This record gives sequence, C-alpha cells and structure tokens, in this order.
Amino acid sequence: MKITHIQAYEILASGGYPTVEVKVTLDTGTIGIASVPYGASAGTHEATVLTDKDETRWNGQGNLTAVNNILTEITAATREIDADNQIALDSALIALDGTPNKARLGGNAVLAVSLATARAAANAKRQPLYRYMMDTYSLQPDLSKLPQPMVVVIEGGKHADESTDFQEFCITAMEQNSVTENVRKALETYHHLKKVLKNEKLSINVGNEGAFAPNGIASNEAPMQYIVEAIKNAGYTPGKDLGISIDAAASEFFTGNYELKLEGRQFTGEELINFYAEWVDKYPFVSLEDMLAEDDWDSWVALNKLLKEKGITHIGDDLTVTNITRLRKAIELDAITGIIIKPNQIGTLSETVACCKIANEHGITTVTSHRGGGETNDHFIADLAVAVGSAYVKVGPTRGERVSKYNRLMEIERELLKR
Ligand code: PGA
Ligand code: ZN
Repeated sequence: MKITHIQAYEILASGGYPTVEVKVTLDTGTIGIASVPYGASAGTHEATVLTDKDETRWNGQGNLTAVNNILTEITAATREIDADNQIALDSALIALDGTPNKARLGGNAVLAVSLATARAAANAKRQPLYRYMMDTYSLQPDLSKLPQPMVVVIEGGKHADESTDFQEFCITAMEQNSVTENVRKALETYHHLKKVLKNEKLSINVGNEGAFAPNGIASNEAPMQYIVEAIKNAGYTPGKDLGISIDAAASEFFTGNYELKLEGRQFTGEELINFYAEWVDKYPFVSLEDMLAEDDWDSWVALNKLLKEKGITHIGDDLTVTNITRLRKAIELDAITGIIIKPNQIGTLSETVACCKIANEHGITTVTSHRGGGETNDHFIADLAVAVGSAYVKVGPTRGERVSKYNRLMEIERELLKR
C-alpha cells in the first residue's frame, strides 16, 4: 500500500483564513483527505503553524510555504513508505522536519499528510477510521462508553470581543449515557441559556466556536450562574445530568501576574487559587482547564491538590500541548488529572496517540478538542476520541465546522449499536 500521489492546497478555515488540506492517493486507487485546524490562543509550546510571511496575501497568513513543503520534500520522502505503517510514516516526517516543534516544514504541513494517509489506509482496508486507529496502535477502548459531549456555550478571552476574561464555559454531560441523548440534553440547555441571557439583557451573538459571547457581562462568575439556571429551566439536574467545565486559558491574561479585567484586579498564582476555591463548592464542576499559566508549574501543583479533594478533573491544555515530555512532567509533579488532546499541537497522529496512551496508563482523563481559531468540517477528532477512549470531546454547539464533530460521534454510536 504505497502513496502514489499527494495533492496539497489551501482551503478556508472557519476563522476566514487559509489552512492546509491534503489528498493522498494510494496505489490501490484509494484516497484519503484531511485538513487541519489552528488555535486562537495557541500555547507557546505547540507545534508551529507555518504561515507565509508574505504580507501581500492573506495579511501574511497564507499557507503556500507549508503546501510547497508537502509537494516537494514530503512527497519525495514518503514515496517508499507503506501507507498502513502509520508509525513509520510519522517517524519519517518527524525526522525530515528535524526540529522539536515542526518549525521547518510546518506542523500544519506534517499533520495534514499524517491524517490524510491514515484516512486513505483506513479506506483501503474498508475500516471505519476509529477501528483502523485501534488496530494500528493496539488501542482497546471500552466502546460501550463513547466520549461524551463537553459543549462550549459561553466564550470570551481571545474567542470573542469584550466578553469574559475566561475563554470557555461548557455544559458537560455527567451521566454515562447515549451520546445522542447527551448531545440533545446539552443543546436543549444551550437554547434555554439563550433565554436566560436575553432576560439579563445580554447579547446572544456567537463567538469563534459558535457559543454565546455576551458583551458587557458583569463578572467571570456570572456565566456559571446562568448555566445552572439554564440546566434547571431545561428540566435537568445540575450536578447529576449536566455539569460545568471551564477553560480559563489563563496564559492569555498572565503578564507576570494574572490580570482579570472583569474583576478589576491582578492576582498572584496563590491569590487566584484562593479566588477559585470560593467557587468549587458552589457550582457543579466536572472539570477546570488552564486555570493557570502554561509555565506556572508550582501553582498547577497547588490547584491540583485542591481539585483532587473535590473530585474535579484538572485539565492541562496550553500546559501540556499534547506533548509527552510535558505530560510526563505534569504526571511527575502531580499537576493534572486530565489533558486536552489536539493533534495539531504536536503535529503527527502517532505522537498524538502516544500522548493519549501515556495519559491512559496513568489514569489521566483525555478530552479531545476542537480549535478556536479556525476549524474545518473535517471530523477526524471524533474518530480519534473514540479510538483512544477519551472521556469527552470538547466542541462548540453551533456552526457547521463544530456540529460536524458531534454528528460523526453520533454516527459512530449508530454504527456500534447496529452490531
Ligand atoms: P484555541 O482554544 O484552539 O484557540 O487554543 C481552544 C482551547 O483552548 O481549548
Ligand atoms: Zn484550552
């Protein structure tokens, strides 16, 4: 199963800027297509998104350099590799790039080829993508427990204009139930949240991820009150059917101290943890993500102690960037109990799965996630989440590029139930 042809080109991502899509053709005649997303609040330790620096095109955000790297160097280097040997393919891509963060060829170039080849090989074997990944990486998820929805319903930070300091407030399914049912419950609650916001005279316009992004909201705590109200109004029980997850994306408001504009104050790490501590018994939290900055390890360790006692999953995203070195450090320090998984943070499928395997071995919950800057309709992450046994997928509630992920997850559920 050899790669005979690689096509690479720019397509539009949801943020209105280009990203890379790749079409891989195998000697079996089978094709695989994949495209890659990008973040709005990308961590500094992530793989590089290589953009053109040509200010005359796309304000310097073009992807033609990445595309060209695929059409020249990557095509030449992958000619002799078996497409169904994904680990060999990804190792070759990593070696060819030669940098720790895919800076030379571009994480966007490398990942698009990695994912498109996996899809082509799965197609050639007539396997659903999640099955192909399970076989390729010897993964044995409990398929009776599919990843559950963590639905972003209010967004702020870099995903909106003049909304909350925190980046995401999510409604998270709490009952291990049918994904389809839990998506329905969460989305019904989202529609009730719209009414709650309207009653508060807040805007119901949506931000990057299709969640409400209310301008002029009073505090970073207000969304939690609104969400609890919406859960009740929808006829569900907060803390039983549905809970709350927050992603503060704290690196974005860390300037040596933590500057929360809505609170009108600056916090040290310790002060911020005390501020959070007041909330943990008040709201039905499932998880808290990136509540502290990406290199503030001591504070992470301190917050982890508190959240472990409360049974709240403490998730690293910018802290860990789907990178096994950073995950291992977080495990050694006892800094997290959960990790966000985003393939484009690291740049190949095999490295993404390796990170999930280490997390699984250490009882760290994985949450496979969309990106805020620009997403595409590619729903690869839904299959990935199933294959690695993620507890949740974190995706926005509306806009085609978001709901495509939930739709694929529900399709997988239907497929499995038929068996
Ligand atoms: P990003 O945000 O994709 O803009 O980094 C999503 C997240 O932080 O989870
Ligand atoms: Zn995050």
